[in-house]
Formats: sequence, C-alpha cells, structure tokens
Amino acid sequence: MSIQARSAQVSGQVLDGAPVAEQLSELGVSIRPARLTDVAGIHALLKQFSNRQLLLPRSRSDLYQRVREFLVVETHGSIIACGALQVFTAQLGEVRSLAVAPPYSNRGLGRQLVRRLEREARALGLSRLMALTYRVGFFHQLGFKTVSMKELPEKVWGVCINCPKFRNCDEIAVLKNLHSTKLPL
Ligand SMILES: CC(C)(COP(=O)(O)OP(=O)(O)OC[C@H]1O[C@@H](n2cnc3c(N)ncnc32)[C@H](O)[C@@H]1OP(=O)(O)O)[C@@H](O)C(=O)NCCC(=O)NCCS
Repeated sequence: MSIQARSAQVSGQVLDGAPVAEQLSELGVSIRPARLTDVAGIHALLKQFSNRQLLLPRSRSDLYQRVREFLVVETHGSIIACGALQVFTAQLGEVRSLAVAPPYSNRGLGRQLVRRLEREARALGLSRLMALTYRVGFFHQLGFKTVSMKELPEKVWGVCINCPKFRNCDEIAVLKNLHSTKLPL
C-alpha cells in the first residue's frame, strides 16, 4: 500500500468513514505513517520518557529498521506524538513506544494513536492487541484489560527475555481481544 493510501486509511477516511478526530483538527495536526526523516524526532521524543524509565529506550538503528511500524503526529516540523504496532505472531500484536510530548498531553492524541494502531491491527487480521504500560487506566478506557504476563508467552519468551528489566519488570500487561470487542469511539 502506498504511503498516501495508508495515510488516508489511518486518518479514518477509508476503513470506517469516521471523521478525523475533532481534537486533532483543533490542534491543526493529523496522524500519519512515519518516514525515515521522522526517526530523529521519534528518537528524541522517546528519549524524554526512557530517561525517566517510563518507556524502554530504543536506538536509532532499531527505529530505522522498524520505522514502518510507526504512526506520528507532527506540528511545525516537530514530532509531538508517536506510537507503533509490532506484530509477534499471526494472532498477537503490541502497541509500543506510545508517547505524547507533555505540552500536548491530555488532548486525546494518545487515545487517537491507539485507535489508529488498533484499526491497523484489525486490518492485518490480528486477534489480540497488547501493551506493557504504567498507564493502566488510559488503556482500560480503550477497552484493554489487565492480564498476567503468563497469558503472553510469545512476548515474554520472544522479546522480554532480552530486556534488561526481564527479572524485575514492573510494567503492567494489558490486552484487548479484537474479535470480541469493537473499536472504541
Ligand atoms: C500515556 C500517553 C501516551 C497518553 O497520551 P495523551 O495524549 O495524554 O492521552 P489522551 O489525551 O488520549 O488521554 C489522557 C487523558 O486525557 C483525557 N482526555 C483526552 N482527551 C481529552 C480532552 N479533550 N479534554 C480533557 N481530557 C481529555 C483522557 O480521558 C485520559 O484520561 P486518563 O488520564 O484518566 O487516562 C502519554 O501520557 C505519554 O506519552 N506517557 C508516557 C509514555 C507512556 O507511558 N506510554 C504508554 C506505554 S506504551
């Protein structure tokens, strides 16, 4: 799919005909797929949070390799929000590296990013979407439920095992069953 087509799709105009979120247009911004030129901005944004142990750090080379997984929000040439959908198996995907720059928080950007990523997960055919987070309430509002890491062996043994926090991970796992739930409004 072309970047333009994916951009239209994630903006909500193709898949469900929903209008682009009012909050986004109020801010004069829109969500779009990331480009290579966004990597420096994504890296800087994620670093603000990984420095405070709120997100796992990601190297620039990792971000270049996985740039196609990212959606971003840009304003005046700066990346102010981002989020990624990583696929683990034919069933399971993860919302990763979700971040909104503090001056733009609490205006619905995070929620809109998760909705777009969820829409992409559904379009791909994934049935389960997870996240590891400290913001449990935020994800609960979007239909995710807290689960034990034991329910996510694909993530634990495929990815977490390589994480420096493997033995003392304090993030909470949340999961949404995409087959039995609808996309939130
Ligand atoms: C978690 C995070 C992505 C949320 O982004 P955000 O843009 O502030 O999120 P939203 O604005 O969609 O929602 C945040 C809150 O604002 C509220 N809100 C959303 N739109 C609103 C509006 N127009 N007016 C008032 N409140 C609003 C939401 O109900 C939500 O309430 P909650 O705090 O009870 O959950 C952001 O805080 C962040 O980057 N955190 C650090 C990294 C992190 O923890 N990432 C998640 C792990 S993957």
